[in-house]
Amino acid sequence: MKLLSTAYSGSIHFSNRIFMAPLTRSRTDNPELAPTKFHVEYYRQRASAGLIISEGTNVSPIATGYVDVPGLWSKAQVEGWQKVTEAVHEEGGRIFTQLWHVGRISHPDFHGGELPLAPSAINPNRPIRTKRSGRTQTVTPKAMSLDDIQTTINDFKRAGANAMEAGFDGVEIHSSNGYLFHQFFSASSNVRDDHYGGSVENRARLLFEVIDALSEVMPVERIGARLNPMMHDAGGIEVNENTAPTFDYIIQRLNDYDLAYLHLTRPYKNLDMPGFIDDVIGYYRERYKGFLLANGYYQPEEAERELQSGRADAIVFGRPFISNPDLPDRIKNGWPLAEPDPKTFYTAGVEGYTDYPNYSE
Ligand SMILES: Cc1cc2nc3c(=O)[nH]c(=O)nc-3n(C[C@H](O)[C@H](O)[C@H](O)COP(=O)(O)O)c2cc1C
Repeated sequence: MKLLSTAYSGSIHFSNRIFMAPLTRSRTDNPELAPTKFHVEYYRQRASAGLIISEGTNVSPIATGYVDVPGLWSKAQVEGWQKVTEAVHEEGGRIFTQLWHVGRISHPDFHGGELPLAPSAINPNRPIRTKRSGRTQTVTPKAMSLDDIQTTINDFKRAGANAMEAGFDGVEIHSSNGYLFHQFFSASSNVRDDHYGGSVENRARLLFEVIDALSEVMPVERIGARLNPMMHDAGGIEVNENTAPTFDYIIQRLNDYDLAYLHLTRPYKNLDMPGFIDDVIGYYRERYKGFLLANGYYQPEEAERELQSGRADAIVFGRPFISNPDLPDRIKNGWPLAEPDPKTFYTAGVEGYTDYPNYSE
């Protein structure tokens, strides 16, 4: 089985091609927003993945927009993550952290009343949950000044340095799913008239500045990027005729870097609309020269076919890893997969977190 075969990206060795997707689980219920012993247990249980990509991890307080998500800006957080990476390495696994800035998908409750930051002052009009207000709505964010942008680049660089100190094998830039970078890419959320808005080059600039800044604190082969080009209508990001040219440019430029990988998520359904690319994986496989990760609604059979046909180098499984900590073993032996319970995706405590058992006959 190709899924079970080993792989290299640069000098990073993966023991199989069944990767674990970044999955927010909102279990960091402590004032430091530092990983706990339950994170250690959760990731240890899943260490047989060829690569674990950690849950989205905020690079700074202003990058936050979801409750009880861990960070990577403080000493307590680095120490918490150290225990996680040690556990994964003890089991022979590999783990990257996903560096996250939500941009405008946030609320003043997270920031002591200050406005969230975004490329432009455009409210995504999304429901959002905070501890103070419960279920509420996003607000019109503050358009980032050039100083705010520079601070953000520095925050990513510091988080990258902290990731190395915490023992991660690398980092994934969360440049997808309607968050900060995606907000810069999309002309519907970025109407800036400086050199971060307007042309495709300008809208993509922040991503490359962050890659360059991270390259100062880690080898570029330890940096991955995630894109979800055909994500539509989530948080005001829309697909139109400009979308494919924007991502064509980004992916062509990513070819200039020897990144650890490009992580692509495909759309969950075909939207019959102008500019929409149905087969995102096939389309960008032809354009990206490096190690390509494919994600989105994969079951083992189709995942194997993707690898056999060379359309991807590894498959990233999200929900299957929530409920099947031993997913590679189950795939190897043809054992049935357990279904995850969405009700406990984002709840506190161990239920639905560390209590999914390995398969037993
Ligand atoms: C509970 C949950 C949390 C998620 N958290 C993140 C996250 O922190 N970062 C991210 O990039 N994607 C996140 N995603 C998206 C997943 O990484 C993945 O793209 C999605 O689940 C589709 O893959 P799957 O069909 O294999 O589950 C999340 C998805 C789920 C279900």
